[in-house]
Amino acid sequence: MRALCHTDTIAEGQSKGFELEGQSVFVVRKLDQFFVYHNQCPHLGINLEWLPDQFLDSDGCLIQCAMHGALFLIEDGQCIAGPCQGQRLTAVAHEIREGQIWISL
Ligand code: FES
Repeated sequence: MRALCHTDTIAEGQSKGFELEGQSVFVVRKLDQFFVYHNQCPHLGINLEWLPDQFLDSDGCLIQCAMHGALFLIEDGQCIAGPCQGQRLTAVAHEIREGQIWISL
């Protein structure tokens, strides 16, 4: 596993992108849980964010793809609206240890 960042790096209700070993991933912190996904929209396979670290919709309730507006559940990455409805973001296995987020790619 690889250390991604300290948990304090991501504020409650926020998201953050990372480049690690040539891969792009992002983390969403919600209710003190951390959700980690590959930064790849199932629609066209491109990065999701419109600005650095901006992966959420305006309410901060859903993950949003900036290109065509697909919306994904934070909890399991399922697309609930948009051109890839029914598909999912690819989750990244992770664990929290000693205040750090560790991922396996
Ligand atoms: S590329 Fe994400 S919705 Fe089209």
